[in-house]
Amino acid sequence: MRIDIITCLPDMFKGTVDQSILKRASERNLAHIHVHNLREYAINKHNQIDDYAFGGGAGMVLMIEPIDKCISELKTQRSYDDIIYMSPDGQLLSQNISNELSLQENIILLCGHYKGVDERVREHLVTREISIGDYVLTGGELAAAVVADSVIRLLPGVMNDETSALTDSFQDNLVAPPVYTRPAEYNGWQVPEVLTSGHEAKINEWRFDQAVQRTQAKRPDLLKNNPKL
Ligand code: ADE
Repeated sequence: MRIDIITCLPDMFKGTVDQSILKRASERNLAHIHVHNLREYAINKHNQIDDYAFGGGAGMVLMIEPIDKCISELKTQRSYDDIIYMSPDGQLLSQNISNELSLQENIILLCGHYKGVDERVREHLVTREISIGDYVLTGGELAAAVVADSVIRLLPGVMNDETSALTDSFQDNLVAPPVYTRPAEYNGWQVPEVLTSGHEAKINEWRFDQAVQRTQAKRPDLLKNNPKL
């Protein structure tokens, strides 16, 4: 998979894309992230990429031309399954959306800034819009990093434990059950006995019950329409 990120703050991705699981995904040739600096597509020698909003009002708007030039150049090199604009009024990111995106070959994540992008970018150039939550960030960069991380970790071979991503919270519309590691007793605090019993069926049953109980306690909204219950 290939993810192209278009941003006016490329340095914000240093330290995310070259660390941990994203780094491993790249080393294993499973996913590559390419960050493009929108200023390289500026409309003039002053490196201009934004301008005042027509009709007035505070805040600058990212211009369509640099964005169009950057996307067009990328499109001459390969075709894209989705061109996604990161925006607080986009579709709310969920595990389902990450699963869906993880099946794609090439995607572009476009990061907005300031007051956002010229509306014609949304009308004519992007295929979908994603939000990572009902709050406003200063730009789409952190949101794009969240999307890239949640998608790339799902690609087969990226995680060392192949089943790990499938047992995450939210994959069944349930939050994850509790986990414990050694020692089995600390300060008198015990690990539930079933987990040290070696009885796999009982352990799975316990984990499922715990996931349901936790979901009821912490995220009852997830239980509505859950086909597994
Ligand atoms: N840009 C600014 N806020 C955002 C959000 N919540 N999600 C995605 N992109 C954003």
